Amino acid sequence: MSLLLTSSVALMVLLAGWVDLVFAQSLNVTFMNNFLGVLDSMDLKNFTALVAQVTNGGDSSFATSLSDASSPKTLFVPNNNAFTQPGANFIGVDFLANDTQFLSSVLLYHLLDRKWTQNQLSTTSDTLLQTFLRGNNITFLENNSPQMIAGAQSSNGFQIVNQAQDTFVLQTFQYEHVTVQVINEIVGIPGPFTATIHTAGLTTLANLQAAAGYGTGLDTAIGLTVFAPFDDGFEAVREQIANTSATSLLNNHIIIGKTVRGSDFQFSQHTSQSLMNYTFNQDPMSEKFTVTLNGVTVNIVRTDFLVNNGVIHLVDGVLFNTTVPDLLAVPTPVSSTDISSPSSSSPNLASSMLSYAQPTMTNNATNGCL
Ligand SMILES: *[C@@H]1O[C@H](CO)[C@@H](O)[C@H](O)[C@H]1NC(C)=O
Ligand SMILES: *[C@@H]1O[C@H](CO)[C@@H](O)[C@H](O)[C@H]1NC(C)=O
Ligand SMILES: *[C@@H]1O[C@H](CO)[C@@H](O)[C@H](O)[C@H]1NC(C)=O
Ligand SMILES: *[C@@H]1O[C@H](CO)[C@@H](O)[C@H](O)[C@H]1NC(C)=O
Ligand SMILES: *[C@@H]1O[C@H](CO)[C@@H](O)[C@H](O)[C@H]1NC(C)=O
Ligand SMILES: *[C@@H]1O[C@H](CO)[C@@H](O)[C@H](O)[C@H]1NC(C)=O
Ligand SMILES: *[C@@H]1O[C@H](CO)[C@@H](O)[C@H](O)[C@H]1NC(C)=O
Ligand SMILES: *[C@@H]1O[C@H](CO)[C@@H](O)[C@H](O)[C@H]1NC(C)=O
Repeated sequence: MSLLLTSSVALMVLLAGWVDLVFAQSLNVTFMNNFLGVLDSMDLKNFTALVAQVTNGGDSSFATSLSDASSPKTLFVPNNNAFTQPGANFIGVDFLANDTQFLSSVLLYHLLDRKWTQNQLSTTSDTLLQTFLRGNNITFLENNSPQMIAGAQSSNGFQIVNQAQDTFVLQTFQYEHVTVQVINEIVGIPGPFTATIHTAGLTTLANLQAAAGYGTGLDTAIGLTVFAPFDDGFEAVREQIANTSATSLLNNHIIIGKTVRGSDFQFSQHTSQSLMNYTFNQDPMSEKFTVTLNGVTVNIVRTDFLVNNGVIHLVDGVLFNTTVPDLLAVPTPVSSTDISSPSSSSPNLASSMLSYAQPTMTNNATNGCL
């Protein structure tokens, strides 16, 4: 119980320093200490120590959101074993064990804005769960919109996907307004686009990005949607794209400034960076989407692979028709040495991207023709 006392005393002391400050919402210290005490009594002590470290370090956003009883919440609580390798699920993001803002982001990413019972999690198909993490200097979605956690069914039951390690729920219980889901790993915040495609082995796309002159520029977009072809898809159209500008070709696959998730495909017009409009069609039975641009149609194999500034949809072919001229950029010819297709560098992540291939992921349980 010493951690509980440490947590309580420290929180009390901190609160005393805050009495003159005005908060839109206030941190319920009683709730927090009771709750951390329950987690401590279940030996989830690394997690409670993390909460105390962040809150006592001066960032109360997590504790304030969690303790707000006006609406139900769900909290993923990594067990102690998860803390032996805290960075295991982070792709292209260093786990900064002493950085309060970073750790606060990690905590906010584990907190969901509604009640998700074990039963709901294990009976919905692929789902995006809305977290409390907005921006916070680590994610860069437009309109400061919240980051999602992607979940899917697996042999382990409900599993958090987009993670380097298999990450799943071990135990569930309710404490006041909070549904606690104990998990086996710390959930990695989505990483930068470039690091993610490298890790996932989308090598040709990465080379195309370099050849197009974007460098890591797509990482700094506020809002990003990418239709990401596998290496095989490029190989299949190698001759057709031999003389195509890399920039024009890449621009057919990206939307800058807007995060278009699978659930948004058909609800408004989406225009590529090459200024052409995408058309989406969904097979009513398989629920799988195709996307068409300038007369070329490819299959969307996997929607909603999350990155810190948007979303990647994996496609099985290249939207290669660049006939409409790209007025936005100076064309750079693609040479066959720029676009080569070596094998994947992280089978684990690539298989995680693929093994949950499903047509739609929505932020609620209303999934197509179920
Ligand atoms: C703070 O939390 C305690 C314990 O959950 C609860 O009894 C109390 O009503 C809460 N206070 C406020 C102001 O919400
Ligand atoms: C987890 O808790 C143990 C026991 O208190 C401690 O030795 C270890 O340093 C903690 N690990 C992390 C990453 O905080
Ligand atoms: C965190 O800070 C402590 C004290 O300054 C230091 O000993 C430790 O090495 C730091 N840990 C990391 C992971 O940077
Ligand atoms: C955002 O993160 C960068 C890099 O870690 C850091 O230099 C900067 O101070 C941070 N900005 C804020 C407002 O925290
Ligand atoms: C590409 O350019 C070369 C050299 O001009 C030409 O021989 C070839 O036919 C062109 N390929 C296509 C697909 O247009
Ligand atoms: C794309 O859609 C927008 C909005 O519907 C429309 O204004 C624009 O003309 C379309 N562009 C093309 C190239 O069809
Ligand atoms: C490529 O686009 C042009 C202009 O929209 C169109 O005329 C042509 O038919 C398209 N080619 C293919 C193969 O779809
Ligand atoms: C589910 O999400 C869709 C798309 O975001 C939205 O249109 C619909 O109203 C939502 N349904 C419920 C029950 O929240």
